Amino acid sequence: MNQEKHWDRIYRAKAPTEMSWYQPEARLSLELIRRIAPELDASVLDVGGGASTLVDGLLSAGYRDVSVLDLAPAALTRAQERLGERATQVRWIVADVLDARLLAASCAVWHDRAVFHFLTDARDRARYVAQVERVVRPGGHVIVASFGPEGPSQCSGLEVVRYSPEGLHTEFGAAFRLLDSAREGFCLLSVPS
Ligand SMILES: C[S@@+](CC[C@H](N)C(=O)[O-])C[C@H]1O[C@@H](n2cnc3c(N)ncnc32)[C@H](O)[C@@H]1O
Repeated sequence: MNQEKHWDRIYRAKAPTEMSWYQPEARLSLELIRRIAPELDASVLDVGGGASTLVDGLLSAGYRDVSVLDLAPAALTRAQERLGERATQVRWIVADVLDARLLAASCAVWHDRAVFHFLTDARDRARYVAQVERVVRPGGHVIVASFGPEGPSQCSGLEVVRYSPEGLHTEFGAAFRLLDSAREGFCLLSVPS
C-alpha cells in the first residue's frame, strides 16, 4: 500500500482524538512559533499537519498566513470539519512533502511534528531538506519533532528513525543552526540567511 493510502485509511478508521499522537492543544509547538515569529503575518506551514489542533491554536493566536500540508486528504477533512467556518482562513495542501509544489521562499516557519522521522531512506531525507532549503525564506525557521533515541521504533505500523537533537541537526547540515532542543523531541533550527 502506498503512503497516501496508508495514512488516509488511518484517518478514516479513527477519530483524531483516538490517535496516539493526538494533542488537545499543541502547546509546545505554539510556544516555539510565537517565540521565533511573533509577527502575526508570518507565514507558517504545518507539514504533515494531519488533523492536528496546531492550526486552531495559530488562528486563535491571530496568525493570518497559515498552511497545513498532508498527503492524506481524510486528515485535512477532519481538521476542516473541526474548524468549521474558520477553515476558510487556512490554505490546505494535499501533497507529499517530498514533491509538493510549494513556492520558493514562501514560508517563515516550517513546522513538522512526527513526519521527518518516517523517512527511513537517506535519499528521501535529502529531498526533504532540499524542500526546506527552497521553501523556507532565508533567515526563517524550522521546527522538527521526532522520536528520541529511547522512543518507539515504529509508529502507525511504519518504521521510524529515532534522533537525538544533534542527530537531527546533522541531517539538516551545518548551515542550519540548532537554536534549541526543547522537550518532546522538538528541535528549533534557523535557516541560513
Ligand atoms: C504521526 S502523524 C502527526 C500528525 C501531526 N503532525 C500531529 O502532530 O498531530 C504523521 C502525519 O504525517 C503525514 N505524512 C506522513 N508522511 C508524509 C509525507 N511524505 N508528506 C506529507 N505528509 C505526510 C501523515 O498523513 C500524518 O498526518
